[in-house]
Amino acid sequence: MATDAATSQTFTRHPHPAPLAVDARNAVLADPGFGRAFTDHMVEIDYTEGRGWHDARIVPYGPIPLDPAAAVLHYAQEIFEGLKAYRLADGGIALFRPEANAARFNASARRLAMPELPEDLFVEAVRQQVLVDQDWFPTVEGGSLYLRPFMFASEAFLGVRPSKQYKFLVIASPAGNYFKSGAPAVSIWVSDFTRAAQGGTGAAKCGGNYAASLVPTAEAFERGHDQVLFLDAAEHKWVEELGGMNLFFVFDDGSVLTPELTGTILPGITRASLLELAAEEGLTVREGRYSLDQWKADAASGKLLETFACGTAAVVTPVGRVADRAGEFTIGTGGPGQLTQKLRQRLVAIQRGEAADAHGWVRRIA
Ligand code: PLP
Ligand code: COI
Repeated sequence: MATDAATSQTFTRHPHPAPLAVDARNAVLADPGFGRAFTDHMVEIDYTEGRGWHDARIVPYGPIPLDPAAAVLHYAQEIFEGLKAYRLADGGIALFRPEANAARFNASARRLAMPELPEDLFVEAVRQQVLVDQDWFPTVEGGSLYLRPFMFASEAFLGVRPSKQYKFLVIASPAGNYFKSGAPAVSIWVSDFTRAAQGGTGAAKCGGNYAASLVPTAEAFERGHDQVLFLDAAEHKWVEELGGMNLFFVFDDGSVLTPELTGTILPGITRASLLELAAEEGLTVREGRYSLDQWKADAASGKLLETFACGTAAVVTPVGRVADRAGEFTIGTGGPGQLTQKLRQRLVAIQRGEAADAHGWVRRIA
């Protein structure tokens, strides 16, 4: 869908009349968890067909009036992104590869028949959101400010067609560890359910994909695991991704493998970054297919040394245990592997401005 918006928008600022008291905020910032608390403001931009994007504004965080017939409530025309802002050692603030999120947002928009948002407007909206709520950076070790840009169909009608009105918002949430367990490595349940099939919406970051993952995820939790893993829809054989993370495998011959992007998995920005960092570590990097059976066999023979999950929320998280209906297997020692830790440290150091940013990934905004 063509975008007829002017890129240059002035953000009108409506400050929050009663922001959270400092004591209450500090308590949140010392132990934020993930996605539990939200900052004082949000960015809002409207889209109307024929007019494009308009009325960019920063408003108090709060409920959004919505017509009961709004298309998003019926046909789930909704997409989102996830990225983080980091407080740097010198007090500055940086975003990590926000242009990549902007590009993926527009790829999702095209798949869901939604209007694209100019990439520089996306990045500017995120920047404005961080700057207005920069008192909300967690004080806990490893904390960051998680940004959630999203867009939904707001036109009121019941016919099945693309909406002619949309809202784009950015909200922010102080973030600590994604996994509650705090275990050194996570445990994964291989689901019988399917997340995405060829030709579907698996490569788009749309809410519907996550709605479909809730029952499989609940099953994983009930069985005592931390995350769900999906296999391919056609053969139920090839490893695809987790509910909210991509996967990497580390072998004893100095190679790493991650499932290739076939259109059914989300093209993770952390995944893309780690592919480059792993190659720089001198590893042979492969994107390809990996079957659950081969994974089991390689874990048993010792050929597979490590497995880790990666994503904005999860950063780089070691996988220690994998289970399906047939049984369970352990990876390596069941704890964090050496390369997993090394790659995590390298990535985090770049994101936090503690290591040179040779790739131009870090966008300093303050
Ligand atoms: N796969 C899924 C299904 C996700 O939700 C995410 C998180 O955004 C990822 C992979 C990792 O993507 P990224 O590294 O861009 O956060
Ligand atoms: C992210 O890593 O940003 C995600 O979206 C994963 C999950 C919270 C859905």
